[in-house]
Amino acid sequence: MKVKVSRKAHFNAAHRLFRPEWDDAKNLAVFGKCSNPKYHGHNYDLVVSVTGAIDITTGFVIDLKVLKDLIRSEIEDPFDHKNLNEEVAEFAELNPTTENIAVVIWQKLRPNIDPEHELEVVLYETPRNFLTYSG
Ligand code: NI
Repeated sequence: MKVKVSRKAHFNAAHRLFRPEWDDAKNLAVFGKCSNPKYHGHNYDLVVSVTGAIDITTGFVIDLKVLKDLIRSEIEDPFDHKNLNEEVAEFAELNPTTENIAVVIWQKLRPNIDPEHELEVVLYETPRNFLTYSG
């Protein structure tokens, strides 16, 4: 019997989507408003889910306090109110699309989760635009 346990989190961050070898016009054509050279922000909503068996001793799949603290230290502290392109090392050479942000989040969390548990990240860039990565 497996149970999926989820924790919601949130961060605000600035980004710019662009290819440095392209001019502003081509970046605008491909990336739209998200190519703005002066950057812009998004309110990201994050749902992190851990799926696994219920521990017989504790009755938990994962202690939600542990998951909350992990998301705070690995994701919210380094990402919140940051310019992702300029202040978060993972995006120095990687376009901070929602896709890439979700994969980076998953990669940062995965080593800290029990290997027997499944990890899923759902990232909302807007209330209507969101995606899922589970490795
Ligand atoms: Ni954007």
